[in-house]
Amino acid sequence: MSTRDEKQSMKPPKVLIPEIKLQARVKELASEIARDVQGKEVVAICILKGSFVFFSDVIRHLDMPLSCEFLGLSSYGNKMVSSGEVKVTLDLNDPIEGKHVIVFEDIVDTGLTLTYILQSLAARRPASIKTCALLMKPSSLKVEIEPDYVGFRIGNEFVVGYGIDMAGKQRGLPYIGYIEHDH
Ligand code: IMP
Repeated sequence: MSTRDEKQSMKPPKVLIPEIKLQARVKELASEIARDVQGKEVVAICILKGSFVFFSDVIRHLDMPLSCEFLGLSSYGNKMVSSGEVKVTLDLNDPIEGKHVIVFEDIVDTGLTLTYILQSLAARRPASIKTCALLMKPSSLKVEIEPDYVGFRIGNEFVVGYGIDMAGKQRGLPYIGYIEHDH
């Protein structure tokens, strides 16, 4: 890491979405989801690693029987720019054929990762797939994709916290922060 990068990573992130707003929105998302999938056999899929905090908060507000699955993905190359090329680091444990699936993703940026996920899951023949993204950066989209549920639409800032990392760090922040760039 260069001295400039070290200085950059030592700066505390600025608050973009405070904890209280996150928690309120998570509760709202859970009620919307519960209303839509009530009575169905639901599999909630957490996309690792970035979604684990969001996922665990949402499912605790989902008052229904559901199975939890984890799909581990890691981007190739430079993490600040998505290529859509992802490596599966952990696969689902059980088949999802005939089940109603809800995918929980931390951020939709270019949309390439979610597109890849949807293609890969569709091949396993679930009864339906819904997608829930905590954050979406509409101006960065490279493919046409609209999650069924979106927590917050944000700008192009690079965000961290609430499970989301920068080079593996900052996941433990209870709020969504952004990194200010030096000019
Ligand atoms: P996409 O394929 O461009 O939509 O990228 C989605 C993935 O890129 C997310 O699941 C994150 O892992 C990562 N990502 C995109 N934007 C950010 C960010 O601002 N902070 C941290 N990770 C990000």
